[in-house]
Amino acid sequence: MVEIKKGLEDVYVKETEITYIDGQLGRLYYRGYSIFDLAEFSSFEETSYLLLYGTLPTKNELEDYSNKLRKYRTIPDNLKTFLKSLPTNLNPMDVLRTSMSYLGMLERGNDPDAQIRVIASIPTIIAYYHRITDGLEPVEPSEELGHAENFLYMLKGKRPTKEEANALDKALILHMDHEMNASTFAAIVVASTLSDLYSALVAGIAALKGPLHGGANYEALKMFMEVGDPNKAEEYVIERLRSGKRIMGFGHRVYRTYDPRARILKNIAREITKNTQYETLYEIAERIEQAAIKLLSGKGIFPNVDFYSGIVFYALGFRPEFFPTLFASARVVGWMAQVNEYLKENRIIRPKALYKGEVGKPYKPIDER
Ligand code: SDX
Repeated sequence: MVEIKKGLEDVYVKETEITYIDGQLGRLYYRGYSIFDLAEFSSFEETSYLLLYGTLPTKNELEDYSNKLRKYRTIPDNLKTFLKSLPTNLNPMDVLRTSMSYLGMLERGNDPDAQIRVIASIPTIIAYYHRITDGLEPVEPSEELGHAENFLYMLKGKRPTKEEANALDKALILHMDHEMNASTFAAIVVASTLSDLYSALVAGIAALKGPLHGGANYEALKMFMEVGDPNKAEEYVIERLRSGKRIMGFGHRVYRTYDPRARILKNIAREITKNTQYETLYEIAERIEQAAIKLLSGKGIFPNVDFYSGIVFYALGFRPEFFPTLFASARVVGWMAQVNEYLKENRIIRPKALYKGEVGKPYKPIDER
């Protein structure tokens, strides 16, 4: 008896030592370390090293790795020319996906630092196009600053505050990996054919773009803006659900309780919006959360990583259409860690489809149809 597993729910494609998700208790571990500890004590550099190489780095290992990330931040001149040639109203995830393809065309062979170069250069590509669409001169990366700090420096043209750099650093840690999510699986499918790294990452970006996946952070912020007034939140949620629409940033295939990342992002969002023009946006989100939990928690539907992340990115100065690219700038680490692990015992991914049609139909010439 063949069972169709729609959305491949509960299908295991490999064993892993990278990420563990406890969907019942709402816990997340990267290489055995709690996401709460990593968000509080670690950094983008340290956690990306942990995911890629399997252990927390020593001081020297972290210094070597961080120096490479700083060195590889610049992007090729012809990619800069390409980005400047683009219209300024494109979907930034399309620009990032195409830029990844562009980098893949330029790369030759399997340079051992290719994966570090990808991690280092994605923020530069994002900030470059963001500045161009703002009508501003792009800002060259600094080799003095940390990963998150430099990202905001290239966006704003000036050094961010410690709080701003910290907020982005933690947000990127929270987005880095999440076991066998759709975009990671897409990257692994491509890698399993022994295609190249860049093609696998293009597949990951393409999958992450969708509003049901990495695009939900943008959709959630659009909801908050649509509501406009915290006192209208409950009525908005009721109406939205009644019309069969989903509450974006809510629900998850694995978490049947509050996504731990959403808990941390909610605190970051509260802190970073306090006494700013974004405070009402945060209040609206909180009221939507309360109303939606009342109606959906019975079905195991709670806030996920995308519910509060958009408020954090928006308060940091990123335009909403760029939010999915920020998700990608972190998840590229998880895609590569999971691909590296899969390729250790590679087998081309080739599931089946249960044929439901007729067989052996006689071919009819067109005049007889
Ligand atoms: C991410 O996989 C990962 O780990 C992803 C991610 C990662 O880090 O990689 O965590 C990142 O993608 C987070 C999810 C972001 N997407 C959204 O917030 C979009 C809204 N959420 C949903 O579309 C949905 O919850 C999914 C896509 C996240 C999960 O989909 P499932 O597991 O396939 O659930 P489903 O679509 O089969 O829904 C089951 C039921 C349905 O109701 P019934 O038809 O059974 O009555 O739950 C309902 C759905 O209507 N439902 C929702 C809902 N999510 C599910 N109802 C209202 N609002 C929602 N958000």
